[in-house]
Amino acid sequence: MPNLFSSLQVGAIQVPNRIFMAPLTRTRAGEAHLANALMAEHYAQRASGGLLIAEATMAVEGHSAFWKEPGIFSAACVEGWKLVTDAVHAKGGRIFLQIWHGGRACHPALNGGAVPVSASAIAIANDEVHTPQGKLPYTVPRALRDDELPGIVAGFRQAAVYAKDAGFDGVEVHGANGYLLDQFLRDGTNKRDGQYGGSRENRARLLFDVIRAVSDVWGSDRVGLRLSPLNSYNDMRDSDPVGLATWLAERLNDFNLAYLHLMRGDFFQQQTGDLMTPVRAAYKGVLIGNMGYSPAEADEAISSGKLDAVAFGTAFLANPDLPARIQANAPLNAPNPATFYTPGPEGYTDYPALAA
Ligand code: PHB
Repeated sequence: MPNLFSSLQVGAIQVPNRIFMAPLTRTRAGEAHLANALMAEHYAQRASGGLLIAEATMAVEGHSAFWKEPGIFSAACVEGWKLVTDAVHAKGGRIFLQIWHGGRACHPALNGGAVPVSASAIAIANDEVHTPQGKLPYTVPRALRDDELPGIVAGFRQAAVYAKDAGFDGVEVHGANGYLLDQFLRDGTNKRDGQYGGSRENRARLLFDVIRAVSDVWGSDRVGLRLSPLNSYNDMRDSDPVGLATWLAERLNDFNLAYLHLMRGDFFQQQTGDLMTPVRAAYKGVLIGNMGYSPAEADEAISSGKLDAVAFGTAFLANPDLPARIQANAPLNAPNPATFYTPGPEGYTDYPALAA
């Protein structure tokens, strides 16, 4: 029976353990959206994870959803990320980049006044975004025309090329958490007519087009996908999240991806249901679970075959040596949410490892 410390073949790459680092937006890239030496130190400290999945990274310039998040849209972005991939590889690690379009979660105040785009003209309600002018409510996006969608796909393709230039081991397409691809997927935000709205097949069309384009660049065995059909974060809903997840899992078998990375729940516990059992039954590839797994629960899920690996988010933020700590049954540092989005090393590179 495998456990957290068993190696695993993840598409084209072999990883030495199943304790993965989940993508974590930490807004340390500055206003030019460039990865930097501080970020390299942060990721390199965590290189013992079986696979590191670097934070949501802007695929198309001008679509910022978090003040000072990184980008992968220019030669300068490539140079910044090379610092990170070199530092992680020098420590023997493996790292994928999460490529992302924020859609309606982007804000004019972060994007020179540009109106955000989405599947339909529906704003995120009851939430605010941090901007240089303070916290602001989200604005109503413009619905993308069908003839604009090849341009979005081309943006993801180009981001995949840049990620390859930057020395990553692969990319994760961000199909989760209420960002653009998820805005098309779920029927609460997709009210379109035509080829990209209505049926599941139509709502998934943009996602599948992006996966194909990114797979053309990397080979599908170096492409992962993250989904969160239950998460209400960013004011998201679907009328049948478990049905959508199960249908996607079946369809994704055709894409021969490195992995499917599934968030099992809802940050706000508004939407409930068991996604994991039907997705495991339907999906033939590597399945990564995420969201609130304790090490013991993660180990049980792997040894019983429910999952192949588990991605830890805040636990990996607070414990740069998470695999060693789990192996030693050592206590875990607690994450400090007050420093999640602040600039600088505090709460980023200063969480202590176990004493040698
Ligand atoms: C967050 O920073 O809260 C965040 C960022 C990206 C996600 C989810 C949450 O996909």
